[in-house]
Amino acid sequence: MKLAPPRGTRDFFPDDMRLRNWLFGHFRETARLFAFEEYDAPVLESEELYTRKAGEDIVKQLYNFEDKGGRAVALRPEMTPSLARMILQKGKSLALPVRWFSIPQCWRYERMTRGRKREHYQWNMDVFGVPGVGAEAELLSAITTFFSRLGLQSTDVGIRVSSRKVLQGVVEAEGVPPERFTEVCVLVDKLDKLPRDAIEKDMNALGLSPASVDRILDTLSLRSLDELAQALGDENEAVIELRELFQLAEGYGCADWLQFDASVVRGLAYYTGVVFEAFDRQGSLRAICGGGRYDHLLSTFGGKDIPACGFGFGDVVILELLSDKGLIPELEGGVDDVVFAFSEDLRGAALQVASHLREAGRSVDLVLEARKVKWAFRHADRIGASRVVLLAPDEWARGEIRLKDLSTGEETNIALDDLPTP
Ligand code: HAM
Repeated sequence: MKLAPPRGTRDFFPDDMRLRNWLFGHFRETARLFAFEEYDAPVLESEELYTRKAGEDIVKQLYNFEDKGGRAVALRPEMTPSLARMILQKGKSLALPVRWFSIPQCWRYERMTRGRKREHYQWNMDVFGVPGVGAEAELLSAITTFFSRLGLQSTDVGIRVSSRKVLQGVVEAEGVPPERFTEVCVLVDKLDKLPRDAIEKDMNALGLSPASVDRILDTLSLRSLDELAQALGDENEAVIELRELFQLAEGYGCADWLQFDASVVRGLAYYTGVVFEAFDRQGSLRAICGGGRYDHLLSTFGGKDIPACGFGFGDVVILELLSDKGLIPELEGGVDDVVFAFSEDLRGAALQVASHLREAGRSVDLVLEARKVKWAFRHADRIGASRVVLLAPDEWARGEIRLKDLSTGEETNIALDDLPTP
């Protein structure tokens, strides 16, 4: 039998789990600072939640199958459709705005590259019920707050920001009907990933000539809001919204991290407005996180639309980046005491002492087998305990136990009654 987990998936041994919990702790704490509430949903969903027809990779990569009852189901590749489903379920009873976060495991049958696996955990923060870019500004501030907490700076990481509305006018002017705009966005997102001829063929099928593709590429090459205003006019909706967003970012103190970049369109069908992606400035890694506004997702599920925006932030790329930068801390196991009885007849006493210490809130590793004292010290050292609590016959007869502080090496005898109490 093969001992490795399925290709593209990970086992989390205790060391890995410690790191994962540390990272998730920062996800959760950042979400708390921004007053987001945590939610969750099943990892298994109905397949129909994801059968969008815009040609997105995420749909092609679906882990889908028929369950024993003949239902078409899929492992979620992302959280947004589940969130939309939950929001629709609550309907009018939900007090808006909603600020919710989650850290789901997501499954995609990806072609594997550095930073892309077949399962990943994805921190999601989403806001429902806020139509203005104030919501996007809050999300971008949360992301940069998170980066700062980990020791990353705006010289290490940037966030490229644009809006789907930048392309919208240009594409419509080329004669593409509005309902096909989404497909164009999904294709445009692949421009730097696939050969130009392959994309041109698909663009052509949507009514775009090679000359139209050139005009789209010209627009995508814009890198400043002033250039954008020149190209689209000061009154253009995208220009107005993006200017407002960058101004809000100044107020949050996170403008250094952000840059306008018209080439960001994102590969998911449902975005309707501002879109953004964080990247490492050395350029060696895939996108660190991505998100945007999706004001019309609910109506695609047959519900009434509510303005919404959010982001997904995977656990894989960020850990690669932190490791490259030497920013992963030494994480201790967190054991306080190793309790050791010198002889079998003191075992009963040892477990009483261990229970007492546990009631006082200390983490206690009680040595369960007959071992030599040397072993107990080596063991304590290996698991990073801070103290060894020894039960020896002479001391115990006097109602005392011996403590050794492993950081100072200091040994003291204390009376049982002086052990910490809850
Ligand atoms: P996404 O761009 O598909 O967006 O994924 C968001 C992030 O998840 C990526 O930037 C990356 O950090 C991580 N990620 C995605 N696929 C993989 C993979 N195969 N391996 C490792 N990490 C991965 C979404 O999923 C949207 N639902 C995000 C969103 C939430 N938009 C609005 N709200």
